[in-house]
Amino acid sequence: MSIAIGQGLTTTKSAFIENAQKSGELYIKQPYELYSEANQETWRVLYARLKPKWEKYANSKFLEGVENLMLSPDLIPNLDEINSFLKPLSGFSAKAVSGYVPAYLFFDCLRNRSFPTTVTIRDSDALDYLPEPDIFHDVAGHVPMHTDRKFSDVLVRFGEVAQFAAVRAKSISKDKSEVAKIVESNIKAMARFFWFTVEFGLMREKGEIKAYGSGILSSASELQHAIESQNVQRFDIQLEWVINQHFEIDKFQPLYFIVDSFDHLFGLVDGLEMALRAGKLDNVCPGEPVANPADLASFLDAKVE
Ligand SMILES: [Fe+2]
Repeated sequence: MSIAIGQGLTTTKSAFIENAQKSGELYIKQPYELYSEANQETWRVLYARLKPKWEKYANSKFLEGVENLMLSPDLIPNLDEINSFLKPLSGFSAKAVSGYVPAYLFFDCLRNRSFPTTVTIRDSDALDYLPEPDIFHDVAGHVPMHTDRKFSDVLVRFGEVAQFAAVRAKSISKDKSEVAKIVESNIKAMARFFWFTVEFGLMREKGEIKAYGSGILSSASELQHAIESQNVQRFDIQLEWVINQHFEIDKFQPLYFIVDSFDHLFGLVDGLEMALRAGKLDNVCPGEPVANPADLASFLDAKVE
């Protein structure tokens, strides 16, 4: 593949993305030819920083995933190529999106084994922190985990729980505002679960603590911090704690939860559904994250039976 010389697909600075959003196109085709040399250089710098840290701190399934996807240190991934390696392994595929995906749609994509994937890349002067996802976070942080059958089953199961929450909401015979409150609490609980596992989870592997959460795996500085800092709390995961624990997105996490395996994680998602059925997600502790109106509407208006 030749080096791209496009005008750029930089986070917050892409006419292509702005136009797609204006015309309401959420699912798009990755316009690979638009990546600029500066975008490619950003990928190279981020990849070079992370590679040695992955070797030290990432779980073995992630490292196998990086190999199996043939992730390039030098070039932003082409999603069609990534999918040609990914699909045969787990049935998952990366699906290009133009921006924010409301919560229900996001979880429902997971249920259908597709992962909404950002195609823009961060600006070269914001290498370390970015509040929104970019292609480095999504493809280098998340997608290698999707090559693992068990982990991908966890995501599908999580999507099923979200679907059940939407079905259940329709059966609650209370007035609209009370149903909305319950669904808001359900979304908060599911978002917290997702955050402390898929985004920032740690796991035990051969007597060591390794990272499997993509928020950690896509940040060279937080990856080391999460595993090595003395100033961090790490606890065995407890479902009831996680769903009631607020978090802040714009700083290193002070608290991480550890699972024993992806089988363990799968069982926890089963537990999440049982808790939902028992009404235990209907009034979780207040605090972040706050479901935005689009998230709430996506659940309330979901086409489910
Ligand atoms: Fe993420």
